[in-house]
This record gives sequence, C-alpha cells and structure tokens, in this order.
Amino acid sequence: MTEQKPVTDAAAQKVPALPDAQTVTEVQHYTDRLFRFRCTRPASLRFRSGEFVMIGLMGDPHPETGKQKPLLRAYSIASPAWDEELEFYSIKVQDGPLTSKLQHLKEGDEIILRPKPVGTLVHDALLPGKRLWFFATGTGIAPFASLIREPETYERYDQIILTHTCREVAELTYGRELVDSVRADEMLAEVIGENFADKLVYYPTTTREESPKMGRVTDLLRSGEIFRDLGIEGMSAETDRAMVCGSMGLNTDLKEILEGFGLKEGANSEPAEYVVEKAFVG
Ligand code: A2P
Repeated sequence: MTEQKPVTDAAAQKVPALPDAQTVTEVQHYTDRLFRFRCTRPASLRFRSGEFVMIGLMGDPHPETGKQKPLLRAYSIASPAWDEELEFYSIKVQDGPLTSKLQHLKEGDEIILRPKPVGTLVHDALLPGKRLWFFATGTGIAPFASLIREPETYERYDQIILTHTCREVAELTYGRELVDSVRADEMLAEVIGENFADKLVYYPTTTREESPKMGRVTDLLRSGEIFRDLGIEGMSAETDRAMVCGSMGLNTDLKEILEGFGLKEGANSEPAEYVVEKAFVG
C-alpha cells in the first residue's frame, strides 16, 4: 500500500499554474489609455488573419473559498497568421476587471490564451472585389493590424484603404507606425512585388484634437469628403468590400452607410460585401 502524503496548508493554498499559459515577450505603452504586447504562440494555434481569441489572467482569489477563476476577454490577434509570435493591442481601463491588471504586464509574465480562434473579419467572409476598406475606431484597428501584414490582402485587392478615427493624435501612433513598417517590409515587397506599398492607403482622423484631417469617418463618408480626398468616386457593390471594427455606435452607423452604397453584410457561411465586429472596450 502506498503511503498517502498529508495535504499541507501550503500545498492546499498553492496558486494553480495558469492553464494555456503563454509568455509575454514585449510590452509597449502608447498613451495612458493604450498599449500593445507580444507573447509566445502555442505551437498548435492556427488562425486566419483578422480572427480573435480569448485571453486573460487569473482573477483574484474568492474571498471565502480562495478559488481563482480565469478572467478572459475576446481580443483580436493584431499579428498576421504567419508571425511566430502573437501581438495584441489593448485599451487600459482603470476600473476594468481585466485591463486594470493587464496593463501592468511585463516581459516574462504569463497570460492565459485559449487557442480557439474565431471571427468574421476574415477574407473568407467577403466576395472577391477590387478595393478593400478597413474602418476602425480606437483599438478596433487590431484585426486590421493583422490583415495589413498579410500577403493575401494584397493578392486579393488592387487597393486597401485603412481609416482610423481616434479622439487624439497620440492614439493614432500604433497604426501610423504599423503602416510605416508595412510599407518598408521587404518580405511583403518580395512576395507581392516592389509596388505593393502603393496599394495601401492610410487615412487617419481625429475628433477631439487638432490634426491634418478631423472628423468622424462616418461624417466624412456622408459628406463625400473622404472620396474627394482620396480621388475616388464613391463605393459600389461591384468593386468595394469593407471590414468594420469599432464601438457599437460606429458599427451601426457604418452599416447604414455601407448598405446605402448597396453593400450587403457577409459571414463565414455566406460571404458578401462587408463584415462587422465590435471592438473590445472594457
Ligand atoms: P467622438 O470623439 O466624436 O466621440 P472612443 O475613444 O470613445 O472609443 O472613440 C474612438 C473614436 O471613435 C473617437 O474619435 C470617436 O469620436 C469615434 N466615434 C465614436 N462613435 C462613433 C460613431 N458612431 N461614428 C463614428 N465615429 C465614432
């Protein structure tokens, strides 16, 4: 008969090892509301650029039982499918259950990552077209950070227009740096061709701080100003495809605008002309 070891208090209270743990490799803060981090990628994780996964941390111990439960939220993977690491772009909310803790991540820390990618902001959910619009507000740029680094995006479309609307100029930094790095990317130039960078148009706007282009993208679309700025006649169901990621308000307003141009909402099961997903805000 084997001897049964007594359960010591220390063993009973031991913090459980994180399930599905990944290690943080890099953290960069942009403003007091925004940061990005990179982490290791599970060997088994396959995903399509633009998809999201559930990530998080262990919650605080229950006051009576001491039990801890994972605190998980849906986050778009901001890195492309070919990247050996994963990147996430996050808001920091001081009283947000997850982001109040997540914002303190440091290199070497562990996060929980459930390796089950899903989402509608993927090429498969759109019918073939000539021009692809990415409409983002705030952290809604994350899935497009993945897709603008994805060679398939440039293979499928003649032109890609990334619009990003934020309150302040500093909130555009992540997107601006990303666009610069994509345009200088030698691997993409090699795979797609030297002129691939000309296909990517970047259209940042701010709403609460002075910048070269001000206003909500929805207003700029309704007035036609964005089309005049870009030298485009307008949008049509024959040529234009769109992906939208932002607040509820943005998504609702943009759906109405896109439907007004004759575009219909698509899904993985039934591809059409545009797709929408809500950006994580808490
Ligand atoms: P605004 O400053 O006019 O509210 P937030 O930081 O609240 O998530 O907002 C990010 C950006 O999205 C802000 O510039 C905000 O503009 C803009 N925004 C919010 N709601 C809408 C909407 N319904 N349509 C277009 N832009 C919006």
